[in-house]
Amino acid sequence: MLVQGATPWNPRRLLGRLTQCGFDPRRGSSWQVPTPARGYSAAGTDEGERPRTVTTAVSAPSGFGFASHLFCRECGATSALGASHACAECFGPLEVGYELPPVTRARIEAGPASIWRYASLLPVPQDVAARPNTEPGWTRLARTDQLARELGLRALWLKDERGNPTHSFKDRVVAVALAAAVEMGYKVLACPSTGNLANAVAAAAARAGIRSVVLIPADLEPQKIAATAIYGGAMVPIEGTYDDVNRLASELADDREDWAFVNVNVRPYYAEGSKTIGYEIAEQLGWRLPEQIVVPVASGAQLVKIDKAFRELIELGLVADTKYRVFGAQATGCSPVAAAFRAGYDVVQPVKPATIAKSLAIGNPADGPYVLDVVRRTGGAVADVGDDEVVHAIRMLAATEGIFGETASGVTLGVLRRLLTDGLLDPGAETVIINSGDGLKTLDAVASGGPAGTAAIRPTLEAFEAWESARAA
Ligand SMILES: Cc1ncc(COP(=O)(O)O)c(C=O)c1O
Ligand SMILES: [Zn+2]
Repeated sequence: MLVQGATPWNPRRLLGRLTQCGFDPRRGSSWQVPTPARGYSAAGTDEGERPRTVTTAVSAPSGFGFASHLFCRECGATSALGASHACAECFGPLEVGYELPPVTRARIEAGPASIWRYASLLPVPQDVAARPNTEPGWTRLARTDQLARELGLRALWLKDERGNPTHSFKDRVVAVALAAAVEMGYKVLACPSTGNLANAVAAAAARAGIRSVVLIPADLEPQKIAATAIYGGAMVPIEGTYDDVNRLASELADDREDWAFVNVNVRPYYAEGSKTIGYEIAEQLGWRLPEQIVVPVASGAQLVKIDKAFRELIELGLVADTKYRVFGAQATGCSPVAAAFRAGYDVVQPVKPATIAKSLAIGNPADGPYVLDVVRRTGGAVADVGDDEVVHAIRMLAATEGIFGETASGVTLGVLRRLLTDGLLDPGAETVIINSGDGLKTLDAVASGGPAGTAAIRPTLEAFEAWESARAA
């Protein structure tokens, strides 16, 4: 049986908050000791820490399944499950804790081919699969040998999130948020979005028969706008960056009592959905963890939750406790977490984004400090690549493996290449990368500079042969 509870008291976060007010973020020597993982703990109390929640009996599942409480990632204070996302004591972000039942591989394997095979590890009603939902997840883990050969890697897999209902991993987080939101009595599904989340929210709400309202930066890719509008919910383009949109969403979340902003006031539940990427990778590898994983970072939630999933699987005895390293990928035009990693900071200085990777263009990432914790604890890194390298990587992935990823995918593969060049990634270790979205949604990024010969020719053999020799020349 697994117990998750309050986390160690860590004054670092308070320093972080002071930093946002202009305090010098450079780490003193006392911060150089790696901190234990937050958001997850074994039973017991360590010296200098607040008592952790220890439970010995598994209660019957509620509307939130085996989730038992919320706890603050900053100060560890616990609270009841419900519609809150910030700690009443310190305003830190809240996270879901569980009293998990014994879980077996066989039971998971007998479940549906969707994220709901892991329903007992999520804060959702246990009959969630029978309720109207988009049934995301169980996407393929593709072995990418040709790409690996090109990169000089021994073994590489790609988690292909294009296989989700709206073609990105966001369907996972939205499905979990929707289930929790309905449980809490919310009537409208809403979000601020960099694009993919808008697609997923609008689709999930349509499927569940409830209203949706999505707020997006007005300059989003046309494909993402069209792929949201089609579901019929309300879509509001906002003048400004995603961070402006997010601020407005926070104000609205306070104002509209029955609106569930999935990544704002329902965020503790929403973020748990990304754990399913980690569970699936382990299961698809034959119930073991990869040695290295490269994950795109916008808010940072996906990376942090993949790590949480790996640790849960170890704790549950579903995989062996093998060492893994987590790497984060950002575009240089929006790389606040990579910059903090390089500088040795524990907190992230917000930036104004300017990159073609719009889905990753969050200048003030909510989970930034937690990403830094994960990569430092596991021996990974956060790195960034420029837009030209992003486009190059999108083309490389398509040409070597027949997989057309979006700009976030180009960032992830581009960073993998950079990490190899810099000697930070081990070419001999088994590696997984996340292909989090679909290239058909970011067509403009690769519209120019494509192969020659796209002009139409006459339907004759001579015209074809002329085309062939022009191409060979
Ligand atoms: C395609 C894609 N990949 C990765 C991310 C990053 O996710 P997170 O905000 O959890 O870091 C996003 C976020 O919008 C996305 O749309
Ligand atoms: Zn707190």
